[in-house]
Amino acid sequence: MTDIRTEVLIIGTGLAGAMAALAAADTGRQVTIITKTADLLGGNTAQAQGGIVYKGITDSPEKLKSDIISAGAEHCWNAAVDQLCQDGPRLVKELLIDKLHVPFDRHENGNLDFTEEGAHSEHRIIHTRDKTGESIQSKITNAIESHKNITTYVQHTAVDLLTFSHHSMISTDIYKKPACFGSIVLNSNTGEVFPIFANRTILATGGLGRIFLHTSNPVEARGDGIAMAWRAGVRCINLQYIQFHPTSLYTKTDRFLISESLRGEGAKLVNDSGTEFMNGFHKLGSLAPRDIVARGIHQTMLETAHPCVYLDISYKNQNWIKERFPQIYSGCLERGIDITSQPIPVVPSAHYSCGGLSVNLDGHTSLKRLYAVGEVSCTGVHGANRLASTSLLEALVWGHKAGVDAAKFRQGDDWTPDIQPWISGDQIVDTALISQDWQTIRNTMWNYVGLVRTRDRLHRAKTTLRNLQLDVEQFYRNARLDDTIVGLRNGLQTAIAITDSTIEARESRGAHFVVD
Ligand code: SIN
Repeated sequence: MTDIRTEVLIIGTGLAGAMAALAAADTGRQVTIITKTADLLGGNTAQAQGGIVYKGITDSPEKLKSDIISAGAEHCWNAAVDQLCQDGPRLVKELLIDKLHVPFDRHENGNLDFTEEGAHSEHRIIHTRDKTGESIQSKITNAIESHKNITTYVQHTAVDLLTFSHHSMISTDIYKKPACFGSIVLNSNTGEVFPIFANRTILATGGLGRIFLHTSNPVEARGDGIAMAWRAGVRCINLQYIQFHPTSLYTKTDRFLISESLRGEGAKLVNDSGTEFMNGFHKLGSLAPRDIVARGIHQTMLETAHPCVYLDISYKNQNWIKERFPQIYSGCLERGIDITSQPIPVVPSAHYSCGGLSVNLDGHTSLKRLYAVGEVSCTGVHGANRLASTSLLEALVWGHKAGVDAAKFRQGDDWTPDIQPWISGDQIVDTALISQDWQTIRNTMWNYVGLVRTRDRLHRAKTTLRNLQLDVEQFYRNARLDDTIVGLRNGLQTAIAITDSTIEARESRGAHFVVD
């Protein structure tokens, strides 16, 4: 493979990356979009169950703003929240409903069905049963694949961002203003490593839940974007605010998201004796902001010495449950739980990173020519704790805006420098080491940088992770590059970035809860 030149490079194909690709390509720009997964349906977007915020019957941008800021523990950036509340519902209508024809659920009279989730004062969330992300992702995938200005590469992993100071062969380039001019990419099919040069680069790599032992996220959510940005010196903020979803299915083998919309539709959280407990923690009970519900569950598990709590929707009509929550019904049934007749065992799990690369209202980062959109970014909308069903909305708004903005550069504003040649090691990656190193990262993050933190635990995490990094960097340098070693190195870097930011955080707030 020879080097590739493109006008706009997008790394990641979830809703945010796809929206950016479509917006830039619609202006006539040549867009290249890469993903490390085998098709365009991977990532967190496709897994989203609950829905996307639109506008309720008696809703207003002011009401939505107030809910976001209150769930965000008063730590949100006002300007970003205003942009989301003003532009979000309009873009849902224009792009998702009218242009892409996402089949959101409707009543017989044709009106959209609105559901509720925690900390919302209005029924304003539209959904496609409990498969909202999947229904959006399949529409955007079609749109990307059929767009003449978009070229897609699957099974291509971004290894590092290209910057003057790190990669140029001209030593004096370090005096230039730091800028990104593309990415080094690994083709997982052939093992080739090559640069993609771009006038503008948009990071849309999604989340990082997999660096924790228990998570609702798919395997690809390993913090690649934060790690690449951290190495390139891009400003990252709010990394201490990891949101733990209160309810994922508790089994011995895996975690499976049990959407907050079950609680929105009336499911009750009970302890092992069948007693409701959330009213003791917050006036909104089971529909309190997520950080409060997750800690309420944690506390109840400690007090009852039981390994989980239960979510009970079995009192509702059996057919209605199967029709409204088909994916959750069948996912639980496969694991031996019939949700129409028994309560669901649930525990909290790492779900969403409220922090990320600091961006402005157009998704621009602190590094020239680099944008970030979706979960890898921090727009300031979510503050210290994200309001349910705002992540797809944020991905839509910032994805679209970043795509439009990235397409605006002047003709000739490109740079294809001579870069340091890629030097690959030749050792075959030892999968036993990869697996053990991930165990260390995940256990450390879950136990020491999890739902409830202490200063001692955080410092212990820092030492453990930094020691491991000495070995992993060596492992990486000697390895014949593949996606697993890139992922391990990135997961560890991101775990360190989160731990360092958490240690430096000045206050216990929202999803960052320190007992001492
Ligand atoms: C859920 O359905 O509970 C997840 C939705 C979200 O994280 O916003």
